[in-house]
Amino acid sequence: MTEDATTGFGHGKVILLGEHAVVYGQPAVAAGMQVGVRAHASTGTGCVRAPAWQLDLQVGDDSPVIAAIDRLCQRLGVASRDLDLWLEAEVPARAGLGSSAAMAVAVARAVAARTGAGEEDVLAAVAAAEAVFHKTPSGIDAAVASRGGVGRFDREAGWQATPIRQPIELCVGLSGQTRQTSDLVSAVADLCERTPVARRLIDALGDLARAGMEALASGDRESLGHQFNMAHGLLSGLGVSTPELDALVRAARAAGALGAKLTGAGGGGAVIALAPDRAEDVLKRWRSLGCYGFLTLVGK
Ligand code: MEV
Repeated sequence: MTEDATTGFGHGKVILLGEHAVVYGQPAVAAGMQVGVRAHASTGTGCVRAPAWQLDLQVGDDSPVIAAIDRLCQRLGVASRDLDLWLEAEVPARAGLGSSAAMAVAVARAVAARTGAGEEDVLAAVAAAEAVFHKTPSGIDAAVASRGGVGRFDREAGWQATPIRQPIELCVGLSGQTRQTSDLVSAVADLCERTPVARRLIDALGDLARAGMEALASGDRESLGHQFNMAHGLLSGLGVSTPELDALVRAARAAGALGAKLTGAGGGGAVIALAPDRAEDVLKRWRSLGCYGFLTLVGK
């Protein structure tokens, strides 16, 4: 990194309710985590390093990360080969926690700090980068990564900060399986095409997201826990859970969680559990399954 380095940050995210349904125009509720990705951009020769993700790339390499950074820089009017990017990643990659959007927001902000580009250009650059990873993303990951806090997202209205009565602590458990969001989104689209009744599960997931907003606004954690459990059932019905995610969800409930569900696209990745007063027990159970978990405070 040279002395002219500029910095940007993007939040990692957890989707509380409404993943997959949001692709079909339903609302989803999500929260930015305090952890995310910090990018440092300096004058350089096109090196992209993210030690936490074991990434050591060079502009010109045939990789999705380079393709995304190329598009993003192009959109901001900068040549990616004239920059070095150093990424400090605090969220695991391809784990359902919005790592690609957090990276895109962090890099776009670091680059914009050099060019003076405004927030609108930053968001357009992030959308261009996200399309490399997720083909037709709903935009929720980019919205949370850039805004943080707790919010409601739908394709028409975008991101709206949501009132929340009190911060909630969530346990986040990692299955250790990585996956590609776009594959899961395509699998759900195929299912809906073959089996139209699947659209009712999508609609029910949207209804749970609406109910979840009410539970967050009134501080009704019992209801939110039930909504997590029902959403996990519906997501399983859509075929995006895995035996490993189901095991993490069952373990969280057995440890006293009010509710638990997969978060993000599924097919691997992460689960979240709402376990006031029992969070340490949940993490311990997950450890006994060989899985790492951590706590995140949402809505602070
Ligand atoms: C991925 O974080 C959330 C999905 O709903 C896909 C999307 O909204 O683009 C599965």
